[in-house]
Amino acid sequence: MTHDHHSHGRVTLGGKLSAVLVAAGSSVGLGNIWRFPYIAGDNGGGAFLVIYIACVLLLGLPLMLAEFSVGRAARCNAVGAYRALNPKWSLLGYNGVLAAFLILGFYFVVSGWTAEYMVHSITGEFAHYTSAAEYQGAFERFITHPWRPLLYTVLFALATHAIIALGVQKGIERSAKLLMPLLFFVLIALSIHSLLMPGGGEGLRFLFRPDFSKVTPSTILVALGQAFFSLSIGLGTMVTYASYFKPDTNLRHTALNVTILDTLVAVLAGVVIFPAVFSVGIEPSSGPSLVFITLPSVFNGMPLSMVWSSVFFLLLVVAALTSTISLHEVVTAYLHEEWHLSRRAAAWATTAGTTALATLASLSVGVLNGWKIFGLNLFDALDYLTANIMLPIGGLLTCIFVGWVLDRQTLRDQITNHGTLPFRIYRVLIVLLRYFCPAILLLVFLDNLGIF
Ligand code: TRP
Repeated sequence: MTHDHHSHGRVTLGGKLSAVLVAAGSSVGLGNIWRFPYIAGDNGGGAFLVIYIACVLLLGLPLMLAEFSVGRAARCNAVGAYRALNPKWSLLGYNGVLAAFLILGFYFVVSGWTAEYMVHSITGEFAHYTSAAEYQGAFERFITHPWRPLLYTVLFALATHAIIALGVQKGIERSAKLLMPLLFFVLIALSIHSLLMPGGGEGLRFLFRPDFSKVTPSTILVALGQAFFSLSIGLGTMVTYASYFKPDTNLRHTALNVTILDTLVAVLAGVVIFPAVFSVGIEPSSGPSLVFITLPSVFNGMPLSMVWSSVFFLLLVVAALTSTISLHEVVTAYLHEEWHLSRRAAAWATTAGTTALATLASLSVGVLNGWKIFGLNLFDALDYLTANIMLPIGGLLTCIFVGWVLDRQTLRDQITNHGTLPFRIYRVLIVLLRYFCPAILLLVFLDNLGIF
């Protein structure tokens, strides 16, 4: 390996499954279960799903491989990794660290909501309501409450901090091994139940029957942003995580498995949500509240509803936690390695900064709702800015960097593990990274700017 920056004594992950597990832990999160349904609902359903899957396969997968290669070749934090491979490109790392910080600003808020819902499920509070309007009212009362959502947001940030501070890779790995299959099982059970709800077929048609007349240039940008968000691509999370991978980790299998898992969870979440949305009469374009007002109705009609709902929100909390950990790690690794803070101090600085931002974002959907940036409250502005602007820019620069700037042998070495693995589609990857991905990303950007 030519670029062996910072590799001395660096932690690596344990067993064979670990790379897939930690990367899938980062990918599978609120992006799949909260953001995907609300974005798909907002953008017409079926046609969005088709474009989304195309973005995942043609842009997300090659970019994940690109990030893995950069991370494992450089073996350090996002900023340091790009700098080690080419000093001019550290900017790409900075975009990532900043984006991770800003994403945590709203992600902690939504994570807090899921934690609150978990507690409500366990205490049986949901059992009191019956109609969609009541669930909506309850949700709105909750997120506009002066301190409850703040409390859960801060608790969630502290939980993330605790895991980062312990550096318990083993703990995360082991729990992911049990919890990921469990999440699948619960989602499948819920989707069956949801499909059986009266009028649920309408929801399936909404999700799976594409109506391309609803597609606008912004649909494509939003699908792309959602693909990157869901796969944890474009800000160096996968660079940072791959820096802990072992030399014999098979990067393309890892990327393929993570992509498939992540997409399955998103589609399953759609199959749970949309039939219920139509059955109960909620607007599919309800925005960020969609999942929180729909899911309680799904649980309500189930036998043992309290159990299902408690288990589901517990799993969602865990899925969110493995994602916040990965975002936190990007900022912490950067502060630790570039600013030479101790890991402890770096982790505390990250927690304090992101919690402050999340507090403001939480208040921006509640008490401070009048406070707008370009017509959006802070919460929505952070969501929009990161997913639709910073991640696609990060993705664009990443494919230009890996396709054109990075020494070809480095990429080949990473993907074939120094020639020990065959890689027949290497040429396809290069063509995608060099020409296809940058061209699409640029076109989508220019189109959205109204250039043509
Ligand atoms: N992918 C995670 C989710 O779907 C969120 C996330 C973690 C993320 N790390 C990221 C998004 C890096 C973008 C970039 O919930």
